[in-house]
Amino acid sequence: MTHLYKSIPVRSSEITPKQAYLSRRDFMKAATVATGAALLAACAPSAATEVETSRPDPISDAVDELGDAVNTYKDITNYNNYYEFTTDKQEVAGLAQGFTVSPWTVEVSGLVNKPTTFGMEDLLKKFQEEERVYRLRCVEAWSMVIPWNGFALASLLKEVEPTSDAKYVRFQTVYRPEEMRGQKSELYPWPYQEGLRLDEAMNDLTFLATGLYGEPTLPQNGAPLRLVVPWKYGFKSIKSIVKIELVSAEPDTLWKSVASNEYGFYANVNPDVDHPRWSQATERRIGEFERRATLPFNGYGEQVARLYDGMDLSVHY
Ligand code: MTE
Repeated sequence: MTHLYKSIPVRSSEITPKQAYLSRRDFMKAATVATGAALLAACAPSAATEVETSRPDPISDAVDELGDAVNTYKDITNYNNYYEFTTDKQEVAGLAQGFTVSPWTVEVSGLVNKPTTFGMEDLLKKFQEEERVYRLRCVEAWSMVIPWNGFALASLLKEVEPTSDAKYVRFQTVYRPEEMRGQKSELYPWPYQEGLRLDEAMNDLTFLATGLYGEPTLPQNGAPLRLVVPWKYGFKSIKSIVKIELVSAEPDTLWKSVASNEYGFYANVNPDVDHPRWSQATERRIGEFERRATLPFNGYGEQVARLYDGMDLSVHY
């Protein structure tokens, strides 16, 4: 199957230095062209159309271990990447509303002694819920701090007993084009898939999220089950997982298959390796205006840098 190349579109607000961005905003304010309003909205995520939900809008004063405040519930649930619905971050929440998250099963299979299909209720009962406040650094150079609820992926993997041949873990998103209109597009090889090396998957930081802000996850954030790998670019953190397969060889991943020169298998956050089309040295934290320095491994180097001893991370990006 051939797929037309389509890379992640990045808004100029994500990658433009502040001065240039400011002057463009001033210019656009003055502009009276018909497209002006749409462009301006695209440059100002805080002005996104927010989706009314029947959920409470929780407030948290939690901070991550670096002392950075968590993002607001509104930002986390209204500024999303989820190409199964749309490529427009501010439209995901609306289009994902009503997406069926129950009943839901997750098949854990492949090179394991005990292949099992778990219902979501089984997973929620079986594994003790934890809260993890993690930074999410998108490859597009924006970031957030998110208080997730869920459990370590390692707990689930231990349950099915990977065999000694298992070296990698492959994850697959649900394929449901009737509910996810983006999956009707032939630009991407659906369903979305991702992968980790087994030792990355077993690292204690690697998390399966079932909630955020103490609430069940909303569809736009990958309900009912999504991966969170905080030291890697956000595209590794695959949403709405239905299958987890233990395999012997490095699995294909959606972004690598559409643009392998731009999105590698490892995708560790690395300020020293630029994306071919923009710098990765800095990022824009949603809710802030000044850009901040991007940290190696997104600030989690102490826990994970040793996984890559002896590897040249400018090659294995
Ligand atoms: N998972 C699926 N299935 N489809 C996607 O388009 N986008 C990824 C990741 N997981 C994506 C996905 C990208 S690029 C990012 S940055 C994060 O989800 C965004 O997660 P959030 O919307 O919860 O902040």
